[in-house]
This record gives sequence, C-alpha cells and structure tokens, in this order.
Amino acid sequence: MDLYSPIFTRASTRKFDPSPLPKDILSKLGDFLAVVKPLLPDVELKHEIVSGRDVKGMALPKAPHFLLISGKKHPLRNTAAGYLYQHAELWLYAQGYATRWLAGVKPKEPDPDYIIGIAFGKPAEPAVRKTEEFKRKAMSEITGGRDSRLEAARLAPSGMNGQPWYFIVDGGKIHTYYKPNLGGLLSKMYNLTNLDVGIALCHLAVAGEHEGRTFEFAVMEEGVPAPPSGFSYVGTVK
Ligand SMILES: Cc1cc2nc3c(=O)[nH]c(=O)nc-3n(C[C@H](O)[C@H](O)[C@H](O)COP(=O)(O)O)c2cc1C
Repeated sequence: MDLYSPIFTRASTRKFDPSPLPKDILSKLGDFLAVVKPLLPDVELKHEIVSGRDVKGMALPKAPHFLLISGKKHPLRNTAAGYLYQHAELWLYAQGYATRWLAGVKPKEPDPDYIIGIAFGKPAEPAVRKTEEFKRKAMSEITGGRDSRLEAARLAPSGMNGQPWYFIVDGGKIHTYYKPNLGGLLSKMYNLTNLDVGIALCHLAVAGEHEGRTFEFAVMEEGVPAPPSGFSYVGTVK
C-alpha cells in the first residue's frame, strides 16, 4: 500500500457519501492498523468504528463511519495516537476514501480513556488537491536544518491547522518539538497539539520508508538542543 503519495494530495472533507463502505474495507483497515509499528511500544491505544448514531458533537459531518480512539494514561499517549491513526488516514486516502480528524466528536457512551475521533467514508466530491494548494507554514518556520523527509511532515494536517511542530536536524537525528498551546483564543478552542505532532511524525516515518530509511523514535535524556521559544521537546527520530 502506497501511503506516501496521499501525503501530497489528501484534503480533509466534510462532504461524505453517507453510504457505508464495504465490510471488508473496514476489516482490512483493522488488519492494517494491527501491524503498524507503534511510535512507542508501551503506549496502549485502541479504537472502534461506529456509525453516526453512536457519536455526538457540534456540527459533525454526516459520515458513514467514525473511528473513535482511546488510550491509557501515558505522557506520550496523544502523540502516539496521532502517529498510529494518521497511518489509517493515509491508508483510507490511498484507496480513494476521505476523512476528517474531529476534536469535537465524542462517543455517546462516555469513556474516560477517549481521545479523539476521525470521520471517514467515500467523499461526495474528490477530496484531493495539488501540493501547492496546501495552506502550510514555510519550511523555514518549522525547521532548523534540512532533511528530505521534512516536506512530508510540513504537509501534515493539524487541529485548527495550527501546525504546532518544529524539527531540528542534527546529523542523522531529527529532534522534534511541539507548541503545548497555540496561544490566544485558539488555545481555548483546541488542546491536542501533542497529538498533532504525532501526525507529523507519521508523515516523516512514511516519507522515510519511501526512501528506504528506518524510523526509530526515542525520548533522549541529554544532548537535545534547546527548544525554540514557546516549544517543548517531544522526542528524537533516529
Ligand atoms: C487532530 C485534529 C483535530 C481536528 N479537529 C477538527 C474538528 O473538530 N472539526 C473540523 O472541522 N476539523 C477538524 N480538523 C481538521 C483540520 O481543520 C484540518 O486538518 C486542517 O485545517 C488542515 O486541512 P487539511 O486536513 O485539509 O490538510 C482536525 C484536524 C486534526 C489533525
């Protein structure tokens, strides 16, 4: 499955064809997720796929399916969730389906471990665009140093399109940072920037795989360059 190409063409949609996807697609998605190498081995995550009848939230798109993600307490739980489930997003786009991450969707049955959901299904109109149509920060705003994989990270989706990430290239390593809050009014409306940075790390890993490079992620105790103002260290890609 080519997860790399959709990075450069995907677009979130709110316009879904309400008809359900074939059952085998849903089970193949589950099979695929079961074999994605997690960002960190000790973060417990799980998901369920439900219909619109089982979710609540303001102004939700009328999608046939919602992937609801939950996980056990861990300092990097949300980052690991963004990382794993962005693979699902790219997998769906790779087969012509479309998605929208939704910070605002919740299961009808309360779940203390619940994190976030993703609406998905067949788009009612094509959910693709040209790479130059992405509204993203310039590379110079999000990186110190150059690495061919960072263009894929730059194009990652994020809540409120906040793009709260920064990467410092250090020889073969990429130290990764995130903005704990988007500042101003946005920080009152959105608090999953630690998940966004996991999404960007997924794009980085997929781009690395495309180039035949390995992806190892670790939180380093020392030797990490100081974060830019307003950012915190997340971990390092080796
Ligand atoms: C973690 C996350 C949460 C999001 N939450 C919402 C949401 O609650 N409502 C919504 O309409 N869009 C939501 N989005 C979609 C973003 O607004 C969208 O990804 C961003 O504007 C970039 O656009 P693109 O996905 O088309 O590249 C979310 C995206 C992410 C990654």
